[in-house]
Amino acid sequence: MSKSSPLVGKRIVLGGGGGIAAYKVVELMRRMVDAGAFVSPVLTRASLRFVGRTTFSALGSEPARISLWDGSDPIPHTRLGQLADAIVLAPATADLIARYAAGIADDLLTTTLLASKAPVVVVAAMHTEMWQHPSVVENVATLRRRGVVVIEPEAGRLAGGDIGVGRLAETDVIVQVVETLFEVSTKNLLANKSVLVTAGGTREPIDPVRYIGNRSSGKQGIAFARAAAELGARVNLISTVPVFDSAGINVVPVESAQEMFDVVSNLAVSCDLVVMAAAVADFRSANVSPVKIKKRHGAPEIRLEPTPDILAHLGATKRPGQVLVGFAAETGDLEIEARRKLKDKNADFIVANNVLEEDAGFAVDTNRVTLFYGESEVALGHSDKRDIAEKVLRYVAEYAKNTGAWQE
Ligand SMILES: Cc1cc2nc3c(=O)[nH]c(=O)nc-3n(C[C@H](O)[C@H](O)[C@H](O)COP(=O)(O)O)c2cc1C
Repeated sequence: MSKSSPLVGKRIVLGGGGGIAAYKVVELMRRMVDAGAFVSPVLTRASLRFVGRTTFSALGSEPARISLWDGSDPIPHTRLGQLADAIVLAPATADLIARYAAGIADDLLTTTLLASKAPVVVVAAMHTEMWQHPSVVENVATLRRRGVVVIEPEAGRLAGGDIGVGRLAETDVIVQVVETLFEVSTKNLLANKSVLVTAGGTREPIDPVRYIGNRSSGKQGIAFARAAAELGARVNLISTVPVFDSAGINVVPVESAQEMFDVVSNLAVSCDLVVMAAAVADFRSANVSPVKIKKRHGAPEIRLEPTPDILAHLGATKRPGQVLVGFAAETGDLEIEARRKLKDKNADFIVANNVLEEDAGFAVDTNRVTLFYGESEVALGHSDKRDIAEKVLRYVAEYAKNTGAWQE
């Protein structure tokens, strides 16, 4: 089970230099992708002498880039750097450090570095003599003065059997340093934001004692409300199930789809984010009996009619700056259904899961969801529902920031 990471939704350029430690960087890239980052590998020509482009392409979030000249993007030298949330140079060779410090822009990686305002982490690895050479020492000092984070090489066995300082830092250490770049900015990710969450399956009455329901336990919705509150939001939780630990959350109990519709449409107007995690019944009885239906009168005929479509209503009345997250609990055709919902309901995100999967979906504490937004599709992996909620909220906040929906 992966713990939620501040790397979720971040765009990271992994700049790979031509050092012997390049093979370790494949693992670093994989770890950042697993943590939820979108990692674009940009490699120097020399790096290809150590690890093939295919490996980086297969394990990164998109194909590895090398040249300024051979891609389909007309302006690759600025676009990557402008879009990046961080650039990680690993292994940073003596040569790469020198070119970066001198402002040389003679390949895609160094032009990307110059075209970026994102924080840069330089993970140096080279032989001890090289690391201690005055030119490298000065170049590293120059980069540090400019605010670049430099992770120094560690002591150990080096290529060729020498022992000394020069090895690439452990992957765990590098990941931690990259995470701390974002931790401060994500702690209060939803500060000053008003978030509305719905949870649980609705109950559609047949008579005063019976109802049509579904298997939703409300666990995922409640997890969203708690995660949003912990990220600093003001939270209204419209729930069909009791909420026992509601610290920092305003819980509004409802039962039917109509009740949920009434409360949600009223409160949504002033919300920055609506997370429709509830399993709202699509149909209800059109002829609810005001008194208990008696068995002795025989099986009643229940005519069904559609309930109000809350997600579609929210999509149709969405105001600028408001972000709408819908859910698709499916038993197959996840992508088709999610993409249809995204479009038809005017939602910004669809969180889709297959309820037939083991340890995912209804009633259990874990889930496995895929997030659909814009043209993107991100599988969030198997994790507990609280962790899933936080990951989704991080993607939402990134999206809202990048699209300008949320100004501050
Ligand atoms: C087997 C081998 C291992 C090397 N390992 C390193 C290294 O760990 N660190 C380093 O700074 N240079 C190392 N070099 C030298 C670089 O490959 C060389 O300086 C190259 O020009 C770096 O290009 P780049 O910075 O564009 O990737 C190594 C060279 C060879 C042949």
